[in-house]
Amino acid sequence: MYREPGKSRFQLDLRRHLRSQNICNNLVHLICEIAEASKYVIHAVRTGDLGVAGTSNLYGEEQLALDVLSDRILRKRLTHSGVVCNIASEEMDEIYQAQSDGPDLYSVAYDPLDGSSLVDVNLSIGTIVSIYKGCNLFQEGRNQVAALYILYGPRVSLVYSVGNGVHEFTMNSLNEYTLSRENVTMAPCGDIYAPGGLRNKYTPGTEKFVTYLEEKGSKLRYSGGFVPDINQVLMKGKGIFFYPALKGSPKGKLRLLYELNPMAFLIEQAGGAASNGTIPILDVKPESLDHREPIYIGCAEDVQKAVEFQAACGQEC
Ligand code: F6P
Ligand code: MN
Repeated sequence: MYREPGKSRFQLDLRRHLRSQNICNNLVHLICEIAEASKYVIHAVRTGDLGVAGTSNLYGEEQLALDVLSDRILRKRLTHSGVVCNIASEEMDEIYQAQSDGPDLYSVAYDPLDGSSLVDVNLSIGTIVSIYKGCNLFQEGRNQVAALYILYGPRVSLVYSVGNGVHEFTMNSLNEYTLSRENVTMAPCGDIYAPGGLRNKYTPGTEKFVTYLEEKGSKLRYSGGFVPDINQVLMKGKGIFFYPALKGSPKGKLRLLYELNPMAFLIEQAGGAASNGTIPILDVKPESLDHREPIYIGCAEDVQKAVEFQAACGQEC
């Protein structure tokens, strides 16, 4: 288990930590259910065939692609949690209604296995989750009541916020999530950058921003997995990730509901910022389930600089 030198041997688990956050019992239950589901996801990732959907296993049963399987694991757990009304997943075309509205129910949007193509080359991947009170999933990300991700790397970690700081838990040898870092914070600016997308498709504003980063001595640190790339910036407390507007793809690639809103909530909670190049990600009103936005996310001053480079290019960008 990761433990900072000098810290006590007592391991604070996720449920106890959540209970100390002054939130509704149903939300504690919901986050714990997601944490439980992630144990089955990581089991599937570790033991599953590296096959594709439609192939058969030893027993002649149909194999599911890992992202489809992860989606089912999460959806089933959420449906049976008793505290969820609407569910949206990157793997589904429509909203799934687990139950109709009622008191103290939540809606959840998630990316069950982000970066699933990286499993074949044994790189880190993750699950990303966004939680709203009530049944409306088409709200600005600022209304999220909680956000979290689980990183399946050399270690499994869970990072969450319920609007009261950002906290990291690491899975121990008994498969329990125990507190490893509390109140993670980000420096105002940093010296690492993780740039998504093809550089020859960058707009002039983004190209100038990259040149600025290179000239100030920032190091390139990009894995191609959104969860590990964000985790690096967040846990190091410095740096910026971006997946910008590209020539031919003005909205970039990443999805607002499943990927950007939860990460923006966490990074803002840690004192960082997230922008689409014009306005904060958390102020963007979702227009559809697969709404995409460009994103610059990380240290507040670095994000501000990215926004300034976009503004300086005007319409050209
Ligand atoms: O979900 C999409 C994703 O796999 C993210 O994990 C990652 O940040 C991004 O795509 C990488 O895209 P690209 O290969 O275009 O840089
Ligand atoms: Mn994804």
